[in-house]
Parts: sequence; structure tokens; C-alpha cells
Amino acid sequence: MRYLITSALPYINGIKHLGNLVGSMLPADVYARFLRQEGETVLFVCATDEHGTPAELAALEAGLNVESYCLRQHKRQADIYQKLGLSFDYFGRTSSTHNHELTQHFYQSLDKNGFMEEREISLMYSLDDDRFLPDRYIVGTCPRCGYHSARGDQCENCTSVLDPTELIEARSAVSGSTNLEVRKTKHLFLKLAALSDEVRAWVYENRDWPNLTKSIAMKWLNEGLQDRCITRDLSWGVPVPRPGFEGKVFYVWFDAPIGYIAATKGWAVENSKEDDWKTWWCSPEDTKYVQFMAKDNLPFHTIMWPAMILGTREQWKMADQIKGFNWLNYYGGKFSTSAKRGVFLDQAIEILPPDYWRYSLMSMAPESSDSAFTWELLQIKVNKELADTLGNFVNRLKFAAKHFGSTVPEGGHPGEREQQLQVTCEKLVGTLCELIRNMEFRKATETLYSLWSVGNQYIDERAPWSLIKENREEAALVIRTCINLIRLYAIASAPFIPFTSQKLFEALHLSEADRMRKISDAVNLDALVPGHPFDVPPPLFRKLEDKEIEELCRQFGGG
Ligand code: MF3
Ligand code: ZN
Repeated sequence: MRYLITSALPYINGIKHLGNLVGSMLPADVYARFLRQEGETVLFVCATDEHGTPAELAALEAGLNVESYCLRQHKRQADIYQKLGLSFDYFGRTSSTHNHELTQHFYQSLDKNGFMEEREISLMYSLDDDRFLPDRYIVGTCPRCGYHSARGDQCENCTSVLDPTELIEARSAVSGSTNLEVRKTKHLFLKLAALSDEVRAWVYENRDWPNLTKSIAMKWLNEGLQDRCITRDLSWGVPVPRPGFEGKVFYVWFDAPIGYIAATKGWAVENSKEDDWKTWWCSPEDTKYVQFMAKDNLPFHTIMWPAMILGTREQWKMADQIKGFNWLNYYGGKFSTSAKRGVFLDQAIEILPPDYWRYSLMSMAPESSDSAFTWELLQIKVNKELADTLGNFVNRLKFAAKHFGSTVPEGGHPGEREQQLQVTCEKLVGTLCELIRNMEFRKATETLYSLWSVGNQYIDERAPWSLIKENREEAALVIRTCINLIRLYAIASAPFIPFTSQKLFEALHLSEADRMRKISDAVNLDALVPGHPFDVPPPLFRKLEDKEIEELCRQFGGG
């Protein structure tokens, strides 16, 4: 089995927040890292989702042309994700040539098969800007609350959903001109209704999806699928290759999912693997395809994107598993890019090292319901779970070095307690692996924490600091066992906290083979034998003081 893993493509505008990270990219990364470690063949791709009105508007606000803006933002996002340890095999862009070509190809196939229809619709036209204005490009006074810069699709102030024609003193967001009129124009519609039986059949085949995914797909199917307009009067996007459609592009949601394929092609071409992208997307049998996303993306990935694929009558790989996430809330509300509410990833990596976020966020993953991020909860995760549990345990190496030197000590024989420890670890590691394979990340993180706790219980019970006074051999056994537990922790924690694992690999002078050891195969409390060298690493984690938490709450408007 090979695993194709994708995370929903982050929009190009702005820097993403903690909610975006935990709702798609981070769990996808944990999953990808785990499977690679288990020896599976994995391809993990992602890209920036660059077209559409929000990108154009953000570029305007930044005073850049849209190409330069997108290039800058792509680099910024890529850099942050790398710092967070997201192990994409490729991080592409939906504005790439590959995506242009593939998108036009999808359109042509859908058109050939009769799933495209031209229709005339009425839209706002700005005479001074000489262009049609999408709803978001029209601003004016909200007819409900009087807010003076309500957008044509929605008022940010009172959240009312609006039609641009309702706005009082409607004006262009581009130029401010009020010289607007309604004009008729041709657009293309994707005939979703005609594809709905096939989509339904496909959804029914996928009975083992998580509940959240299944229920959202069913809700949409039961409401009935509507044909959808898939072209826009913009210049930034993939041009529509059809007579009479000059100056129009495909709607961002049409080209975005094709970006998954385009990113794979980018990966293949840049790694001189040429046609290898086709083996991932065009020979579906031996590949398991798993998608990660937040719940607002589920309708699109369970209905629209499958409909697009089915309508091509071509053999594109469709998702086997679709893992959706609920919202991670921030003090009672949602994180929001447009409202600049919450913690953004550039800020996050300034505040704490990546593993603190990776671990804490995975343990708060909004899986069965929405969950809440609070600074206080972060403090507990960091202080109690990372620092007091894993950190302190590793810090026992100091005691080991002081009494036995910096090699694994010799002496004593594993007894009943060690036997029992081995069994407990095997059980926990078995559970951990199963939970990750089932993509139950929150429980998996709890299990990892239990695994760390087991070591602390063992050392507290065996108390080598007292034992050493009466029975040095037995103390040596306990220390040797603990060093081997640290080895196990380094291996088993790697998908979650890869930077910390790396430090432990180095401290324990683990062999290359051991570093890539299957987690499912890693429980061996005799793996590191007497005489094996180790170093005492500096403390792995620092604690978050109350004062610091108060300050963060103040700074980020929490609490
Ligand atoms: N950019 C979208 C979002 O952040 C996700 C696009 S996923 C894709 O909600 F499949 F369409 F690419
Ligand atoms: Zn309003």
C-alpha cells in the first residue's frame, strides 16, 4: 500500500492561525510522519490556494500586484510551515503552470461530457473600473445596521448576508467609484444536479468515513445538489479556454482541488521523476488516498470535487478517507483571519518552539466536537505534560551520568517489575499505533502522554536514588531500563514532536536504523546495552510562568 496524503490548501492571503494548523496541516503531518516511520511509501503534498477575490483584495491592500503578493505570501507561508516541522514532500501553488494546464484539461473533459452549461446572469459592472465586480468588491452602507463599509456579500459588523444591490451608496472596492450598473454576462455552470446520483453512489461506497464527514456529505446530498457557476470576471486565475470567455477565469474553488494533482506533478517534475505523478493519481488500486481538512471544507471534498472527477469520465484517484475537524475556538469565538482574531502562526513560532505547539494542539484537536484553545490550557500541556513528564524523565540522565558515567550501566537482571513495564509499554504502543492509523489524534496524544507517565511511575517506585545506597547493581538495572525508555519515547514521539525526538536521538547516540524504527516495533527495554554512550541534553522544555500567561492573555485578547 502507498499513501497519498493531502491537507486542505491554505488560502494565500494573510498568515494562517492555530485553528488552520490543527484543523488540517498538523494532523496530516503527524499521520504522514507516522506512516513513513512504519515503512510505508508516503507522498504528502500541499499548496497555497492563490486565486480568487480575497487574494486580489489582499494584494490591493498590501499595495502590490497580485503576482508579487502571492509570491511573497507563498514564501512566507512555506517558511513558517517548515519551521513548524510540516514535512510536505512538496508545497506547491495553485497559480502554477501545472495547475493551469490541469484545470483547463478538467474543464475540457467536463465540457465534452456535457457537464458544462453557458448561462446568462446579471452582475454589477463598474464603468470607471471597466470591469464586473464580484460581490466582495462592492462596498456600501449596510441596510440593516448602517455600518458604512459593508461588503456586497456580507456585513462584517452585523453578519447579515447581503445582496450587493441592497447596499446603500454602493461603490467599487477597487476605485471607490459609485458609477455602477447591472449588466448581463455569460458564465459557465457545472451541472452538479446531473451528477448527483453518481456522487451519492460514491458516498455510499465510502461507509467507513468518520461520522463528521459522513453526516456532512449526507446533509448536502439530501438537500439536493444545485448547478454551480464556476467562472468569474477576474483577471487573476486560470483563463477559461472557450470562445466568448476572454477575460474570464475559473472560480477559485474549481481550480483549487486540482491543485492537489498539480502539486504532485510539481513534485515529480522537480525531482526528475517525470511521469511518476500519474502513478499516484491515475493508477488508483495500490494507493490509499487520505485527505485532511476543517469541517467547512467537507461539503466541497465529499460532493463537489468528487463530482468534478466523476464528470471527467477519467480514472483520477478519489479519496479513500476524508478526515474532517471541528473548530478550535478562541475564548468563545472562532479564530478569524479577516477579523485578525486569535494567534497567528508567525506569532506562535516567536512565542514558543514548534514542538510545544505541535504537542499541545494535537492534544486539543477538535475531533468529536469543537474544542477551545486557552493560554491556561497551553500552560498545563507545556508545564505538566511536556516539562514535568517527558522533560523530567529525560532529565534523570543527569543522575545516571553522575553515578554511572556517561554510558549505559551494567549490572542487575530485569525482574518482574521490568517484565510488567515491558508489557505495559507494548500495550500502550499498540494502542498508540492503532489510534494514529484510525486518525484518532486526540486519543493518540493522550496515549503518548500515558506512555511517558509510565516511565515516571517506574522510576518513582524503584527510586534508584535510594536503591543506589544498598544495591548498586539493582540501581544500574533501573537506570539502564530508564535509558531504554527514553529511547522508546524518542522513537514513539517523533511524529508529534520531531525536533525533540531529534535531540533525544542525538543524546542517546541512536543508530540511523533505530531513528527510523517502526514505532510498532520499538518496545525493547534492552535495546541499548551496557557501554552504549549517551550525553545529558539540556532541559528539553521550559515552563510557562503565570506572569507570562497573563501577559499573553493581555496581548492576544484572551481571557
Ligand atoms: N483554501 C481553502 C480553505 O482554506 C481550502 C481549499 S482545499 C482545495 O478553506 F481542495 F480546494 F484545494
Ligand atoms: Zn450590518
